[in-house]
Amino acid sequence: MTTAIYPGSFDPVTFGHLDVVARAADVFERVVVALLVNTKKSPLWSTEERLACLREAVEGALDGRDAARVEIVAFEGLTVDAARRVDARFIVRGLRAVSDFESEMQMAHTNRKLAPEVDTVFFMTALEHAYLSSSLVREISLLGGDVSGMVPPAVVTRLRAMTDVG
Ligand code: PNS
Repeated sequence: MTTAIYPGSFDPVTFGHLDVVARAADVFERVVVALLVNTKKSPLWSTEERLACLREAVEGALDGRDAARVEIVAFEGLTVDAARRVDARFIVRGLRAVSDFESEMQMAHTNRKLAPEVDTVFFMTALEHAYLSSSLVREISLLGGDVSGMVPPAVVTRLRAMTDVG
């Protein structure tokens, strides 16, 4: 079975991320979406809440694909160690623009150095989502803007709850 791990902060998960998950599920037999816990930035929600949100969002984005082939996990530490734990031979990442390339190339080479048996595969994020970033979504939402065209309903509901309370 060919397994790929798709690591990220998903803070929050956007339509761009979900596009990558769905397309990875068309290529790999098993896709493990791995949420980084020990992110340096302070995340919007607790790990449990982010996991629940990711689960709900991915379920809604699979569009008839076999949900059993897509798993959601949280991880701490190195991506390559998480990859080894789930027997992933591939790391999936999305590339939106040339600006992503440099840091992604550095990560891919470094991960390959750490774990030569794990290779990185890139999907070009769908054009309609190529401008999206989690940080912009966070900013727009905190300033009262409408992000419903950028993130799935699971995220919109939680963001609204936050701004309503705040
Ligand atoms: O969604 P992001 O923030 O772009 O994801 C970045 C992520 C989680 C893939 C990266 O920060 C990562 O792999 N972190 C885990 C720690 C690690 O393995 N560091 C070495 C990377 S070469």
